[in-house]
Amino acid sequence: MPLTQYFTGIRTLADKTMDELTPSASVNPKLLHEAMRHSLFAGGKRFRPILAVTACEAVGGKREIVIPFAVAIEMIHTYTLIHDDLPAMDDDDFRRGVPTCHKKYGEAAAILAGDALLTLAFEILADTARFPGVKAETILRVARETAGAVGSTGTVGGQMVDIEMAGKEPDMATLEYIHTHKTGKLIVASIRGGAALAGAEEDQLSALTEYGRSIGLAFQIVDDLLDVEGSREKTGKTPGSDLKNKKLTYPSIMGVEESRKLAVKLTDRAIKSVEMFGESSSRLRDLAEYVIARAF
Ligand code: IPE
Ligand code: IPE
Ligand code: MG
Ligand code: MG
Ligand code: MG
Repeated sequence: MPLTQYFTGIRTLADKTMDELTPSASVNPKLLHEAMRHSLFAGGKRFRPILAVTACEAVGGKREIVIPFAVAIEMIHTYTLIHDDLPAMDDDDFRRGVPTCHKKYGEAAAILAGDALLTLAFEILADTARFPGVKAETILRVARETAGAVGSTGTVGGQMVDIEMAGKEPDMATLEYIHTHKTGKLIVASIRGGAALAGAEEDQLSALTEYGRSIGLAFQIVDDLLDVEGSREKTGKTPGSDLKNKKLTYPSIMGVEESRKLAVKLTDRAIKSVEMFGESSSRLRDLAEYVIARAF
């Protein structure tokens, strides 16, 4: 099956479940639910749900059992985007091709929509206990890992340092910390969670973690490159946001060409990490190649 068709299949399934699990805009408080839906359904790539499903299938699992988790991950991701765009953070006006949540609904509703998406995600994750064949202890482990990945020593920590370092003297170690935390941790959690729910062995989880670390960092380097070279048509966001905010990015420190080379190297490393899966790693390889293709 061609990759685009594979992607569409997962997106359609994830979006349908996400629609069912998100309160409708006619439920009170209507404005809050409308704001949540505005950001969720504006048309993201659904890369993290795709990763979760691909990891699940790479270890022999059925995609149905992992879809609620994939939806939960996408909700957490969308919350981080809504808060990332706020005036106190990156102060951006466009996201996923439409006005950012706070531009359309105001700052208070945007903050609360983000809060509500984060909590709804964990409600959904706990609910996966109703699937036959998924052990409660596995769900607890996945919930714990997911929470750890997005908290103060994960995504939120990365976002904090990203803000603190704006306009400061560049330093490679701090830059790597920012990118692996603000973006890498959730990507690793998506992959590990998808595989764990499918009953992956520890050695499979370790290999997938290595894979996730490499593509997670590559993904944010590519995002940095697209902020320099992309267009609103291509990314759905206003380019030049990092420059405006004096952000520490890979292109700002090592230049566009070196950043591209590093992203390619990380992609190769990711593909090597999952060689042990043999044929069933072919989609993981496709996904790594997809990450890098966005920068060319
Ligand atoms: C944007 O993520 C923010 C980063 C972590 C780089 P995506 O590029 O996955 O955004 P969507 O979900 O497709 O909108
Ligand atoms: C954001 O990084 C990462 C998170 C939202 C956690 P960016 O600030 O570079 O993401 P974009 O470019 O606004 O999507
Ligand atoms: Mg940011
Ligand atoms: Mg931003
Ligand atoms: Mg960016």
